[in-house]
Amino acid sequence: MKTAITELFGIQHPIIQGGMHYVGFAELAAAVSNAGGLGIITGLTQKTPELLAKEIARCRDMTDKPFGVNLTFLPSFTAPPYPEYIAAIREGGVKIVETAGRSPEQYMPALKAAGIKVIHKCTSVRHSLKAEKIGCDAVSVDGFECGGHPGEDDIPNMILLPRAADELKIPFVASGGMADGRSLAASLAMGADGINMGTRFVATKEAPVHDNVKRALVEATELDTRLVMRALRNTERVLKNKGVDQLLEIEREKGASIKIQDIHEQVAGVYPKVMVDGEMDAGAWSCGMVVGLIHDIPTVQELIDRVMTEAEQIIRTRLTGFLDGVVAEAPARAVA
Ligand SMILES: Cc1cc2nc3c(=O)[nH]c(=O)nc-3n(C[C@H](O)[C@H](O)[C@H](O)COP(=O)(O)O)c2cc1C
Repeated sequence: MKTAITELFGIQHPIIQGGMHYVGFAELAAAVSNAGGLGIITGLTQKTPELLAKEIARCRDMTDKPFGVNLTFLPSFTAPPYPEYIAAIREGGVKIVETAGRSPEQYMPALKAAGIKVIHKCTSVRHSLKAEKIGCDAVSVDGFECGGHPGEDDIPNMILLPRAADELKIPFVASGGMADGRSLAASLAMGADGINMGTRFVATKEAPVHDNVKRALVEATELDTRLVMRALRNTERVLKNKGVDQLLEIEREKGASIKIQDIHEQVAGVYPKVMVDGEMDAGAWSCGMVVGLIHDIPTVQELIDRVMTEAEQIIRTRLTGFLDGVVAEAPARAVA
């Protein structure tokens, strides 16, 4: 399948693995790129620019296909040295950067001077248009369903994607709630040029996270995510657990007067506890509603092949069948 995104990034399939804190290590990024998608290393999971340089080198040892690095600009307890991270990306020869959070405007000259293509993740049409204006090559349009930070507008992808398609000139991928061939076919129908998946890629054999995390994703349903940090205007969609219940209780007690320090225990330093140690009740970690569509732990290759085969069948058989007067059944649930 060829789309504006496969052509822009030089990849086989229009499937991107979004940056994920403590998940987007070289192993996962390389597996996604080797399977024909675009793997992304999560820049800030590497505590220093030197460590990011090593992670990029490790990824290059595992794949000769294109891969990218995510740079997230979110409020944090201590601001990372972004220019040095960008230097590590440039010197590592990485040609694709996924930015997220605040606008990457101030870093665009450095990224463009290094010949880097930038795909910015946005949760609204206005931010997508801003990204287009400041010279981003593509956007990842992230609906309210998404794992992580959905912004504060609460617009789901059935509305957000066609709105983005109406306004944008640069290519975009649909992000949030994407799991299978149905997601890809539907996104293409709504004007996107591919999909970005986060949560679905965590439940794969190659994702370098504790087995408890993968098991929790298979067991959870679409009813098991919660929104936290709304009052701080830093909303995050996370998987419900005991730490998240405590966090929500504190949020209820403090109301609008809540400060980030009040929930420090439930949000800071949680990722290594969950992803490395498998402590599933440690606190807030990102997870999308798409968890309700995750029933197995395939290899990345199996997952990507399945998405592509299913999307092709839907487009060639189910959809054209309707036009030819064949009332097709819905595709069966796919598991490895
Ligand atoms: C465990 C986890 C960690 C994430 N960490 C980041 C991150 O550090 N930076 C970022 O830009 N997005 C992050 N995301 C968001 C993903 O890149 C992606 O945009 C999102 O998961 C898409 O929604 P989905 O989970 O429904 O596929 C994270 C998502 C998950 C599930």
